[in-house]
Amino acid sequence: MAVGVDGSNTNGLGGRITLSVVITCIVAATSGLIFGYDIGISGGVTTMVPFLKKFFPLVLRKAAEAKTNMYCVYDSQVLTAFTSSLYIAGLATSLLASRLTAAFGRRNMMVLGGCTFLAGATINGGAANIAMLIIGRILLGFGVGLTNQATPLYLSEMAPPKWRGAFNTGFEFFLGVGVLAANCINYGTAKMSWGWRLSLGLAAAPAAIMTLGALLISDTPASLVERGKLAQAKQALLRARGHNTDIEPELAELIRSSEIARAANEEPFVTIFERQYRPHLAMSIAIPFFQQLTGINIMAFYAPVLFQSVGFGSDSALIAAIILGLVNLGSILVSMFVVDRCGRRFLFIEGGVQMFLCQVGAACVLAATAGTSGTERIGKGCAILVLVLMCIYVAGFGLSWGPLCWLITSEILPMTIRTTGQSINVAMNFAATFVLSQTFLTMLCHFKYGAFLFYASWIAVMTIFVVLFLPETKGIPMDSMHVVWERHWYWQKFVNKESY
Ligand code: BGC
Repeated sequence: MAVGVDGSNTNGLGGRITLSVVITCIVAATSGLIFGYDIGISGGVTTMVPFLKKFFPLVLRKAAEAKTNMYCVYDSQVLTAFTSSLYIAGLATSLLASRLTAAFGRRNMMVLGGCTFLAGATINGGAANIAMLIIGRILLGFGVGLTNQATPLYLSEMAPPKWRGAFNTGFEFFLGVGVLAANCINYGTAKMSWGWRLSLGLAAAPAAIMTLGALLISDTPASLVERGKLAQAKQALLRARGHNTDIEPELAELIRSSEIARAANEEPFVTIFERQYRPHLAMSIAIPFFQQLTGINIMAFYAPVLFQSVGFGSDSALIAAIILGLVNLGSILVSMFVVDRCGRRFLFIEGGVQMFLCQVGAACVLAATAGTSGTERIGKGCAILVLVLMCIYVAGFGLSWGPLCWLITSEILPMTIRTTGQSINVAMNFAATFVLSQTFLTMLCHFKYGAFLFYASWIAVMTIFVVLFLPETKGIPMDSMHVVWERHWYWQKFVNKESY
């Protein structure tokens, strides 16, 4: 077995970082760009007047009405459906992706996802009517459904176990770069009459970058072994770990895990419901569900809308979104450097407390200034205070739930249920994003500042969940992960060691 009593790796392969594995993982992590670009672009585009005039004239009419409640200006179901259609498509695709990723490999799914996203971006850039807009977004959804499923698995499988957290965080880092790039582009295009076309069409650029990159890298040793390509797996492992490293113990572990997976030989969506996989199933559902209940996408999608409706002009709203993007990126970098040292649990708890305090703070400021009627615009000073609180909140997310949501599920799943658990994670993520973004503007309109308290309460719940139920996984090789459940006060009664 490749793990010592303290959970440390005894193969001697835990910590070696080669140039090849670094380059390969950076290239793979660029898949995050397309998801991030989309998250960042849609919020800005839906505040552009020429875009609204062409596709959603009703929203503009409402905004022009005197004395509109500031919490309710953007409360339009069709506008929200535009943003959300991607998530429904992504959800369906990610469930399908479980079998595809197991059968064709992680890398090939990244290539396919990139191509589909490219097609969606092209249609959106040239959209002449709402139908084209929605079809384009569905294709984007297919794309991110595939890449979000395959890439985190790719990174966790490729990384040396000791630094798996840092490598996997690369995905969230590029996601953040995508969000920031999109915000800057929106800022530049907001004044052009056809700026929205440029914003939507430019999604083709990150798609082209990640697709070309994915074509240049090999699949992970684990995926190659899973697909019976032993010679290629050995080559890939040698390249990743270094030619003078003894890769035989790691290869033997991979072969053993893949044999167990093959012996299970059942429908993986049935297997994952077996009692022994209860902790994995619980985490694959709870982690993405909680991640969305931090309220992050509400901030990302609607940061410009939100800032405009709490008193910023349309320019300053985009600048505010850019500031949030930079803060997010900085905090992800910090997370990357500490996740394998301080561990996952520390970051979850620290980030949770930080986010909780900020949401409560923002609710208090809005309650004190805009009140419940929402008809008075809040002053510049208070709007800036909300922005500062949002920055600290976003930093908390970038440290914790942002990157860790992709890391935890991709590292805890045994080969038998790996692609299935990851599919559930991504599908849950999309489902929760869909429901929350579909309901947020109505919620803001009715609950007013209480919307922030709603998320604060969930952040408290998820932090307690982590304290009680999430074991520390730093440094443990993926094929030896059973040790963390075996030692856990609650999960130990479920786990069957032979399944690893
Ligand atoms: C989440 C996204 C979110 C993004 C923010 C990701 O980890 O899954 O829903 O928009 O982080 O940067």
